[in-house]
Amino acid sequence: LTAKRRPSVVWLHNAECTGCTEAALRTIKPFIDSLILDTISLDYQETIMAAAGDAAEDALHKAVESPDGFYLVVEGGLPTIDGGNWGMVSGHPMLATTKKLAPKAKGVICIGTCAAYGGIQKAKPNPSQSISVTEATGLATINIAGCPPNPINFIGAVVHVLEKGIPELDSNGRPKIFFGELVHDNCERLKHFENSEFAPSFDSEEAKKGYCLYELGCKGPVTYNNCPKVLFNQVNWPVKAGHPCIGCSEPDFWDTMTPFYEQ
Ligand code: SF4
Ligand code: SF4
Ligand code: F3S
Repeated sequence: LTAKRRPSVVWLHNAECTGCTEAALRTIKPFIDSLILDTISLDYQETIMAAAGDAAEDALHKAVESPDGFYLVVEGGLPTIDGGNWGMVSGHPMLATTKKLAPKAKGVICIGTCAAYGGIQKAKPNPSQSISVTEATGLATINIAGCPPNPINFIGAVVHVLEKGIPELDSNGRPKIFFGELVHDNCERLKHFENSEFAPSFDSEEAKKGYCLYELGCKGPVTYNNCPKVLFNQVNWPVKAGHPCIGCSEPDFWDTMTPFYEQ
């Protein structure tokens, strides 16, 4: 009863695929259960909360009206067409809910490229006229970019915000501690790039031998992320698995990094 109240976190799902939540659930150090039971109070998260319907809405209202305040995590872009009516949760446009809650939050963390920069729904021709959280609210957000982002980057940012405040961000709102280096500069295939040893096709002997995937479309030289150092699920990352980096942590990568494959 005397335990310090854990910081309240409200997590909105907007226009997205829930891949960011799925990635975050697989974090370790701490595991997700430890994070949400010991470190934060995750008061609203539609994918994993037990409550539904009115009970879920009540939990949201209680959290955002608490005098102790709350942190806001946003997953997904924001459709703006037709007043935002193409994306609704509980009868309210995602756009309106995000615009209402973000200014009241102690801090806003965008998980994934959809929330940070608009994501796949913003890709040309952007039929839903989707925008990012910053475009919708005018607020600077902490952008944990990636599609999905590495959960270690997300949890690391949450802990940093709670313990030390907002980390230093780059010009795209990404924490420099996670996004300060190019994928290319830490890639295990870099020595082949420097020797001009490029795989000519995905099923080539050269690809199997670990040659560079640049000529197959790899965007590692223009993408800031720590994938080669941190790995996904502590096991692997796209290029190690034989797939070119598609630049998923860069703004508007669906438009600016395509075609993803060149062969
Ligand atoms: Fe899904 Fe990617 Fe958007 Fe995350 S950033 S919600 S993984 S499409
Ligand atoms: Fe760079 Fe991609 Fe080649 Fe790795 S595979 S060295 S990231 S171009
Ligand atoms: Fe994304 Fe490239 Fe890493 S596609 S997951 S930034 S290797």
